[in-house]
Amino acid sequence: MEAKKKFYITTPIYYPSAKLHIGHAYCTVATDVIARYKRMQGYDVMFLTGTDEHGQKIEEKAKAAGVTPQQFVDNIVLGKGGVKDLWKLMNISNDRFIRTTDDYHVAAIQKIFKKMYENGDIYKGKYTGKYCTPCESFWTESQLVDGKCPDCGGEVKDAEEEAYFFRLSKYAEPVRKLLLEGNFLEPASRVNEMVKNFIDPGLEDLCVSRTSFTWGVPVDFDPGHVVYVWVDALFNYCTALGFMNDKYPDADFEEFWPADVHMVGKEIVRFHSIIWPAMLMSMNMPLPKKIFGHGWLLLGGGKMSKSKGNVVDPYILSERFGVDALRFYLMREFPLGSDGNFSNELLISRINSELANDLGNLLSRSVAMVEKYFGGTIPENRQPAAMDDELIGMVKGLRDKYEQLMDNFGTQDALSEVFRVISRANKYIDETMPWALAKDETKKDRLSEVLYNLVESITVGANLLTPYMPETSERILAQ
Ligand code: MSP
Repeated sequence: MEAKKKFYITTPIYYPSAKLHIGHAYCTVATDVIARYKRMQGYDVMFLTGTDEHGQKIEEKAKAAGVTPQQFVDNIVLGKGGVKDLWKLMNISNDRFIRTTDDYHVAAIQKIFKKMYENGDIYKGKYTGKYCTPCESFWTESQLVDGKCPDCGGEVKDAEEEAYFFRLSKYAEPVRKLLLEGNFLEPASRVNEMVKNFIDPGLEDLCVSRTSFTWGVPVDFDPGHVVYVWVDALFNYCTALGFMNDKYPDADFEEFWPADVHMVGKEIVRFHSIIWPAMLMSMNMPLPKKIFGHGWLLLGGGKMSKSKGNVVDPYILSERFGVDALRFYLMREFPLGSDGNFSNELLISRINSELANDLGNLLSRSVAMVEKYFGGTIPENRQPAAMDDELIGMVKGLRDKYEQLMDNFGTQDALSEVFRVISRANKYIDETMPWALAKDETKKDRLSEVLYNLVESITVGANLLTPYMPETSERILAQ
């Protein structure tokens, strides 16, 4: 038997500095939809998500809450309504969940850090610059926007410390080449932004250790230093496959690395498309095949974020509207690559018009008619007519169109295509008027053809909706 093709997909690992919001859920749902789609295509999928638990911000939050950092993150990750509960509620099909405080990960990061030190790509120096605590990012003066953090717009503070540096500058040219040749980073519009803003001005070596706080992976050969949270975080994609640890078999790493795609939000594309490949080059490891940078959910025009406090709780929305309705809305309303405004009104109107009216009505009318006219089984004698052709043509072409879109991260368009067929099928009911056919005994074969076409459209549609709305699709198919 031929081995199944492998597909490795990841979400970013989330900071458990506060409860997650709908923006995080968006990223995870999008990744879940692609993972489920790939499984449906017959791939052996590894879908990883997790939490990024170290760093100064968490340490400060825990202190303010009067608990240890570990207690603090345990509560947000494992507590009631926490990260794990949320993904369970939202029907996320991840195969693994990594926490950067897991022992195996910590030990592996120490080995990785040491390896880069030994090969000369990490060296000791002195750091002076600006630091943004919420973003865990160091900036040079020239990178600041109006003296503030270019990512979140927050205050930065002066920072100086003895630190280890990663020779990022050494990898500027190979990384530039990687970005400009092929399609490592998508959407393509992000490539220019990376090259122009970060590589062209000159890549500086990256500060990769801290001494100003302790909540991190200790540098084992130099007490007092902890590994920079982004180095710790990025390698999660490998340690979760057993790289440099015994938690998982080496075979996992051999089979699934390099990742097929890292799904990430646009503000962390920089880490994933520049720093990450450079570190992998330093480690002599294969590079991920693709970084996909999705847009943000905005609320009132600004990024929804924990630090701004303008967040929408996915828990409440799932409970109120149903998980599948929420998953549907997130994927239907926003194109993956761009930003989009979140709104309750739009959520409700999408649910009413497309889920309840279009899909719900098509299903209930069709099923009721098959029951009423044929006792639940459509007879085999059927009489086609020219007026069926348009619907049949659309249904037949749907899978190809859908796959082509899905293979290119067109999750919104793929979903629209399915709903185009659903609307067309509703129109077909009005055109063929099965209730009129049912009154005439001589039109029985025609009636059976019409209902057959409806049921077939629904079946094909529901199958393709499975990655988006797993439970609803299953219920439709059962009916
Ligand atoms: N811990 C880092 C990622 C490390 S990956 C090796 C991090 N965490 S985060 O919790 O701040 O963000 C995680 C992801 O959530 C990012 O991809 C980010 O873009 C996404 N989102 C956070 N707010 C969002 C929106 N308002 N809209 C869409 N995605 C958003 O960064």
